[in-house]
Amino acid sequence: MAGGPEHVAIIMDGNGRWATGKGWPRLVGHRKGAERVKEIVRCAPDLGIRWLTIYAFSTENWKRSTREVLGLMTLFARYIQREAEGLSSEGVRMRFIGERKRLDPRLQDLMAWIEERTRNNTRLNLTVAINYGGRDEIARAIRILAQRVESGELAPDAIDEVCLSDTLDTRDLPDPDLVIRTSGESRVSNFLLWQSAYSEYEFSPVLWPDFTPEVLAEIVSRYGHRERRFGGVRV
Ligand code: FPP
Repeated sequence: MAGGPEHVAIIMDGNGRWATGKGWPRLVGHRKGAERVKEIVRCAPDLGIRWLTIYAFSTENWKRSTREVLGLMTLFARYIQREAEGLSSEGVRMRFIGERKRLDPRLQDLMAWIEERTRNNTRLNLTVAINYGGRDEIARAIRILAQRVESGELAPDAIDEVCLSDTLDTRDLPDPDLVIRTSGESRVSNFLLWQSAYSEYEFSPVLWPDFTPEVLAEIVSRYGHRERRFGGVRV
């Protein structure tokens, strides 16, 4: 029988529906969603979670209105500024995955700043995916490897699963044990495509702004009763 999941990855979905269902602008849902992020980060270590990876903005989310995109980017910057102190005192190391060059340079600076500031923390590894897409990540990694081959630094035969994993944005992270998607949608939506090859999936009907630590605790305890065989047989 498996123990609890050490690495939980979450597709935080349903902010927009939560807000519009109450007659409020979508951004109110994102703001409430950011409050939930704080609570989930705080409770995760007590549930045995050592790695928490959350999907905050996908490579497809640029298609949303300028107002919503800017609102989300502002929320990310504010989260970093306001939570810096708390994250440090709670022993949280914060990292980001995704393609950064398209982001506002000030946000890029804040991201680099908090990564540096929290780099010695070990209680929880929090990774936030911003402008992240699994296909984009794999394509970027392949481009890097192709350049190494072209320069003669890498032999084509040396490209294997480990080599590709070590070139992805997630190179410092273990693969997720459990991927949760909220809001009742049963899609993977380009999240950690390579890394979740053997992950368990949990699709929760709860909208992200309603996703309390109690809901997470219940999912985590259910995971403990699953058996993972990684393609092998029961031993
Ligand atoms: C999906 O809900 C959610 C997002 C695209 C944004 C996630 C962002 C947050 C939870 C807020 C801030 C995060 C951090 C790290 C501070 P949706 O808008 O697609 O919902 P819908 O499907 O109901 O429209």
